[in-house]
Amino acid sequence: MTKAKYQQIIDDILLQIQNGTLEANMKLPTQRDLATSYQVNRSTVIQALEILQSYGTIESKPRLGYFVSDNKWNTYIKDNIQWQSYISHSSSKNNQYFIQRINELEFNPNLYRLSTGELNPSLIPNQQFKKILDQSNNIPLTSNYEYPLGNLNLRKAIVKHVKQWGIDCTVDHICITSGALQGLKLIADGLLVPQSNIIVESPSYIHSIRTWHNIHAKLKSLPISTIKSNINHLFSKSQNYRHSLFYTIPTCHNPTQHSYSAEEREKIVQQCQQQNIPIVEDDVYGELYLNGPRPLPLKTLDRNDNILYLGSLSKTVSPGLRIGWIIGKPTVISHLADLKMQNDYGASSISQYIAAQWLTNPQYHQCHIQNLKHELLVKRDQFLESLAQYFTDLGSWNTPEGSFYIWFELYHPIDMKALFDIAISHHILINPGEIYSEQAKQAIRFSYAYIDTSKIDTSLKQLSQLIIHLQQQTK
Ligand SMILES: Cc1ncc(COP(=O)(O)O)c(C=O)c1O
Repeated sequence: MTKAKYQQIIDDILLQIQNGTLEANMKLPTQRDLATSYQVNRSTVIQALEILQSYGTIESKPRLGYFVSDNKWNTYIKDNIQWQSYISHSSSKNNQYFIQRINELEFNPNLYRLSTGELNPSLIPNQQFKKILDQSNNIPLTSNYEYPLGNLNLRKAIVKHVKQWGIDCTVDHICITSGALQGLKLIADGLLVPQSNIIVESPSYIHSIRTWHNIHAKLKSLPISTIKSNINHLFSKSQNYRHSLFYTIPTCHNPTQHSYSAEEREKIVQQCQQQNIPIVEDDVYGELYLNGPRPLPLKTLDRNDNILYLGSLSKTVSPGLRIGWIIGKPTVISHLADLKMQNDYGASSISQYIAAQWLTNPQYHQCHIQNLKHELLVKRDQFLESLAQYFTDLGSWNTPEGSFYIWFELYHPIDMKALFDIAISHHILINPGEIYSEQAKQAIRFSYAYIDTSKIDTSLKQLSQLIIHLQQQTK
């Protein structure tokens, strides 16, 4: 089998590092020159460079180009080239460059995190978790392996929890996962094949993770505006949708905050049913809808077990508990639970215990969600006020109806990679829109969930000045 073009470029650059033709700190030829010498188009070169960058083999310097990194990894390549070859030929791809850097930088306490999709530590009920563990005399705490479907008390608690939004299920419809992310991984491994057409919204959280890349199925991105304007004709009659599925975040979408109307929800469910396309409904933010009662999950409209519903405590309670769940047809759920056992033998039993107690005790979850929504509203309003003050001439955004995010689109193009780097040097961390869609190179996903309210104004003011500066430079 001939190697893909981008892989040939990667291998060639690695070889040049190994044999010393390229040394640490040496500048690589420009993208255009690389494209000419490898006789490929520029996007192939960019793909190869981004992958090399994700290995730490090369680094990009704003406005200067790409350089061979001066790090241990390159020394390592020289001694053990076969490891690099194993890595670069593995079917699991590293995270995108921006995500890798963000994952590391989020542990730098000097950065103001204007985009982090995680609750501020002060909003996480750690004291109550302690209390739950202290009170474990009445209900004995066990830390053995759990049922393949997950802790029974937790599943009972989830049956009640989702009932409040009209989802009717039993404990056999639920598989506990280590976060919703693992649910997505189990669905990919357990249900998809390379011939699958995975229909996804664009932009979408799903583009930020590589969970569904390994199966090499086609991701068919549909802009949310296209879905809405074609709501009666979502799928083409002539296309074969065997093995396909539709992944959607219908409420408080990440990153746009979009929520479908009740009518749109019905149409989506109806048409998927007509075409026999299962839906994966990712509802990790639905409970944080701020404008009144939350829109009902698609799962409430599911008459034929067509929908796999993903929930999680990560966004509402604590991401570190790593507790999520999939709700679906029992035969599918037991297949996914079997895969889960093969993966990790169950989510942490201590986390499952805490989650079960947390959801069962009305004093905990209900009060917490009420307070949390109040706090998020305060943070949201401060964020919107500061955006209005500093960003009105720079771009546009919507008022979020819930959860954490503000999708900001610039009016005039800038080098987003340069902004990302310069912002870091000014102690500000942002998520460029490109993480969520290749087309969103001029967008930023903001989040008010993590940053201290008192730091929102100064950080946004500073960021706006950096954008203006960059725009002036490109004029
Ligand atoms: C839409 C969406 N689904 C799933 C996840 C993953 O959540 P968990 O922490 O439960 O794995 C995230 C996290 O950002 C998300 O935004």
